[in-house]
Amino acid sequence: MAEGKFITLEWPEGSGKSTQARLLADYVRDCGYDVICTREPGGVSIAEQLREILLDNESRIYPTAELLLYAAGRAQHTQEKIMPALKDSKFVICERFTHASIAYQGYGRGLNRELINKLNYIATGGIKPDLTIILDIDVETGLKRAKAADGKLDRLESENISFHKKVRDGYLKLAEENTDIEVVSSLNPVEKIKEQIVKILKRRDLI
Ligand code: TMP
Repeated sequence: MAEGKFITLEWPEGSGKSTQARLLADYVRDCGYDVICTREPGGVSIAEQLREILLDNESRIYPTAELLLYAAGRAQHTQEKIMPALKDSKFVICERFTHASIAYQGYGRGLNRELINKLNYIATGGIKPDLTIILDIDVETGLKRAKAADGKLDRLESENISFHKKVRDGYLKLAEENTDIEVVSSLNPVEKIKEQIVKILKRRDLI
């Protein structure tokens, strides 16, 4: 059903992913593809409104409610934007997607993995990325970078170090378990990271 290509970028906090999403989009566009860049939480109006709630430091959200809000935003985003773009043979680059719920709500918050998989399935209608790149960074450096970038930390970034370590370990475990996930270090210079990502996409015949 899906004709386009679907690439997701994931990362523990502070990996400079928006820069990489933009550089990758430029490269892929230059190769002649029709590219859209999007993100989660967000990507479409309703999901962007949920993003405000989810990242607001004033929000007190219980873990199950948090999981459901991310899933609700994903359902809206997938149906309103991602599915139509893929049907239209577009190349979709999405900052964060289903794996973020497994890493943050599953490994980070300790919620049941099967439940998360089910919700991800319901939210996406079974659509899966062709490839997920994890931009990896150690937690201490990542949080320092996140703080330097925004001057302040959002609700999730403000979680303690042990939460963020669980999230990062979760991402790395996911990469071990899935052949459609690749890990790239975020500690390299920006251009080098871009080259590594492009190389992976070429090796996998995605561009
Ligand atoms: P960011 O896009 O600026 O990194 O902010 C998104 C935050 O939301 C980030 O801390 C990761 C978190 N998140 C989840 O906890 N679960 C999810 O399913 C998604 C998409 C993001």
